[in-house]
Amino acid sequence: MEILDEAIEAYALQHTSEESPLLQEIHETTDRELEYSNMLTNRMVGRLLQFLIQLGGYRRILELGMFTGYSALTMAEVLPDEGKVITLDMNEKYAKIARSFMERSPHGDKVSIVMGEAENTLPDLEGPFDLAFIDADKQNYPLYYDLIKPRLKPGGMMVVDNAFWSGAVLTPEEDEKGRAVDELNKKIRQDDEVENVLLTVRDGLNLVRKK
Ligand SMILES: C[S@@+](CC[C@H](N)C(=O)[O-])C[C@H]1O[C@@H](n2cnc3c(N)ncnc32)[C@H](O)[C@@H]1O
Repeated sequence: MEILDEAIEAYALQHTSEESPLLQEIHETTDRELEYSNMLTNRMVGRLLQFLIQLGGYRRILELGMFTGYSALTMAEVLPDEGKVITLDMNEKYAKIARSFMERSPHGDKVSIVMGEAENTLPDLEGPFDLAFIDADKQNYPLYYDLIKPRLKPGGMMVVDNAFWSGAVLTPEEDEKGRAVDELNKKIRQDDEVENVLLTVRDGLNLVRKK
């Protein structure tokens, strides 16, 4: 399902600040070397994450789903020296590419990679976090929400990517991942401890602020 008019999406991108040369290189390398390069987030979401971190004065970031490191490094770029992005992934091939970029970035030291299935590694992580970017396997989105919320500071934010799952949330009975993402969107709306805005940015971005 085409969520947004392609021309207007292209216009929005053209009129959004450029990313750093290294982030551009991650994009190019991922496109060239990996089959699923569309898993990478884009500059629009990246800039939004940076703005949220800067506006909130956030320091400690959790990411679920690092892939080749684009969003992790995007967030690290705007953190102060003592800031940290703890990013979770389970795919060694992707992590190898991500590490090669972290090593070249002046912000790479702010990123800590935790390898393994997030459902197993997340329970061992100590909070509190200021912001969590959820971008790993969609079936586990409701579980991730439950695990992250107690580890989030009051005033902290969760950013849930692919909150439309290409429109599958409209017919959740037809798609397991769409069902899980829809379940989370509904869970968030029913949760009195948070406020949220589900933005029609790209494939849907649910911004959830813990009260
Ligand atoms: C959409 S990509 C993340 C893209 C990344 N945030 C970016 O914008 O550059 C999803 C990532 O989640 C990882 N992943 C999938 N299931 C996972 C799981 N159960 N535990 C940890 N990572 C997982 C995949 O290996 C993949 O790298």
